[in-house]
Amino acid sequence: AHVVTEACIRCKYTDCVDVCPVDCFHEGPNFLAIDPDECIDCGVCVPECPVDAIFAEEDIPSGQEHMAELNAELSHLPDWKPITKRKGSLPDAEEWRDRTDKLGELLR
Ligand code: SF4
Ligand code: F3S
Repeated sequence: AHVVTEACIRCKYTDCVDVCPVDCFHEGPNFLAIDPDECIDCGVCVPECPVDAIFAEEDIPSGQEHMAELNAELSHLPDWKPITKRKGSLPDAEEWRDRTDKLGELLR
């Protein structure tokens, strides 16, 4: 499956959801997660993300490997509903877009 990495946290641009043919993005307060049981690995979401947060599982950058399991867990939470239409990014997305190691900022 494809995986959303920490770059998405506190940005949540949502450009990715418009193109997903199987609607497998799920939305939390400040992050999106891909349901690995639904993702068909088409890859079309990858170039849509302005912060390059999405990777095929086998291409996840070093230090972000933990995000595969986290996408699986979060996408299955009852409150994390599917999101299929783009909406505005979070208000301080620009401020957070170049930050790394944002895991401590993740809200469930
Ligand atoms: Fe959806 Fe394809 Fe991205 Fe998987 S790789 S999340 S199926 S757009
Ligand atoms: Fe997140 Fe990028 Fe989508 S910031 S919401 S993975 S477009």
